[in-house]
Amino acid sequence: MARILCAVTGSIAAYKAAEVVSRLVQLGHEVHVVMTRAATELVRPRTFSALSRRPVHSDLWDPMEAYTEHVSLAELPDVAVIAPATANILGKLAHGIADEIVSTTMLAVTAPVLVAPAMNVHMYRNPVVQENIRKLTSLGYRFLAPGEGYLACGDVGPGRMTEPAAIVAAVTGLLAEGRPGTRPPEGGEVCGG
Ligand SMILES: Cc1cc2nc3c(=O)[nH]c(=O)nc-3n(C[C@H](O)[C@H](O)[C@H](O)COP(=O)(O)O)c2cc1C
Repeated sequence: MARILCAVTGSIAAYKAAEVVSRLVQLGHEVHVVMTRAATELVRPRTFSALSRRPVHSDLWDPMEAYTEHVSLAELPDVAVIAPATANILGKLAHGIADEIVSTTMLAVTAPVLVAPAMNVHMYRNPVVQENIRKLTSLGYRFLAPGEGYLACGDVGPGRMTEPAAIVAAVTGLLAEGRPGTRPPEGGEVCGG
């Protein structure tokens, strides 16, 4: 049994994250879900709290949350998964932007991070998005390349999120490898607070 942090962002593929969470729970893992506000517009947090049997975190400023909830969430996983990952979250992580609960939490995660992008084919092919993916890959984030096919916007091409079963298989593979986290330990850093 492992602890998995599933981050869901505001892609039309957000509904597929429910299957990812369900499959991971069925495998016996402890699954925690964090969602962006855009993701909650597409799938209700209640779906994920029911599937994970835990509260879902979607608001950095929720007065009911412990004030360092994002740090606690970041410290708990053996593996973190961002599925689906929007162009927006890729840009934020590549540039150290932490302005809501998913980006803030993911920047503090030191466990291995699997990223499953999902977006319109032209967004995916945009050189800025590709540059962000290259940068994050070089920093240790593990990408699951999107599949090709019919996209919700009507276009055809790469951009479809990897299927839930493949994401779960990748999580299982990473856990079996016991690989180190996204970032090597650093010395001499300044700790906030
Ligand atoms: C119905 C709908 C579907 C969307 N699907 C995607 C998508 O698949 N990929 C993406 O990058 N953005 C998509 N967007 C745009 C994002 O939701 C938007 O960029 C948002 O700011 C992302 O916020 P987040 O990264 O904090 O979740 C979609 C927007 C809407 C309204």
